[in-house]
Amino acid sequence: MVDTMPPSQYWPGGTTPPDLSAALPGGTTPPDPPAALPGGTTPPDPPAQAVIQTRALTKVYPGNVTALDGLTVGVAPGVTGLIGANGAGKSTLIKILLGLLPPTKGQATVLGRDCQTSGETIRTLLGYMPEHDCLPPDVTATEFVTHLGRMSGLPPTVAKERAAESLRHVGLHEERYRLIGTYSTGMKQRVKLAQALAGDPRLLLLDEPTNGLDPAGRTAMLELIGRIGAEFGISIMVASHLLGEIERICDHLVAIDAGRLLRADSITSFTAVSEVLAVEVEEGLAQLQQELKARGLTATVAQRALLVPLGGDDTYDVVRDAVADLALPLCRLEQRRHQVEELFRGDEGAAHV
Ligand SMILES: Nc1ncnc2c1ncn2[C@@H]1O[C@H](COP(=O)(O)OP(=O)(O)OP(=O)(O)O)[C@@H](O)[C@H]1O
Ligand SMILES: [Mg+2]
Repeated sequence: MVDTMPPSQYWPGGTTPPDLSAALPGGTTPPDPPAALPGGTTPPDPPAQAVIQTRALTKVYPGNVTALDGLTVGVAPGVTGLIGANGAGKSTLIKILLGLLPPTKGQATVLGRDCQTSGETIRTLLGYMPEHDCLPPDVTATEFVTHLGRMSGLPPTVAKERAAESLRHVGLHEERYRLIGTYSTGMKQRVKLAQALAGDPRLLLLDEPTNGLDPAGRTAMLELIGRIGAEFGISIMVASHLLGEIERICDHLVAIDAGRLLRADSITSFTAVSEVLAVEVEEGLAQLQQELKARGLTATVAQRALLVPLGGDDTYDVVRDAVADLALPLCRLEQRRHQVEELFRGDEGAAHV
């Protein structure tokens, strides 16, 4: 497996991103044919060029713990958030996709290859950042990332170049010759990301990359992941239980609960514009609420804003006139977007998920 990849598959040691148009090794292999679902139901059409596709995927661990329960989902290229509470089945799904864990039932394909029969090939095409700390303390980051680059099939010189490049990319260039055991948690997470990048992956699977980081560290890590997705054009699936932070960098979201699909959609659909107008004034919120009521609009208070149901274009005019007549200092008047997080809360969540 080592030293078999054509040179066009490597980053040439500089800042050039990977050649995404390059064929997969053995790239003439057609995608695996879709499997029929039990009971003869037709699986939903996969998104165009799905990088990941699962069909009725079920995993029951010994002890009768069902981690995945008939999960059918397709993941399009881009950055995808895999969202679910603790125990929802995110890590189980990732390990099945890597070909490291056999499903109990159903099928999964990654980049058109079957995870059960082509696990080794899939792992040469993927970068994986595991959720738990698994770094050897007594080697330097350079040694570690170079070693894993070699294991993923790169020749020695290329592996060294790629290690240097990946570590620079994650902001560890200065500290790359330090023993990993001396690193902070944030630096260790970055080494894990660097090793996932080093093998020239077409797809990154990142399992809770913000684990253990403080708020600033979480933001920095997410920005880094967002940049990798945008600059290198690598598809990324990033698992998290924190919707609020993940939605910033994702093109798509896959939400799972107790091993079942809640919803898979583009982030824009998740955050579709709602039929509510948010009005914010510096002072006189209660006064404005009264005035709108007198003009036939029922407004509710939400933190520092009034939410007014949009009945048509003239709602804007009524609100504008009420604010002007009361001479209130208007700071915001906009159609409100759903925050992804609120789609999973209470009644509203039930309506959308
Ligand atoms: N090796 C195992 N043996 C038995 N049960 C397991 C095993 N691994 C996971 N489980 C169970 O399967 C379910 C899903 O676990 P999984 O680790 O996939 O969830 P997760 O979404 O990654 O959770 P977290 O956010 O806590 O990492 C849980 O109920 C878990 O306890
Ligand atoms: Mg997990």
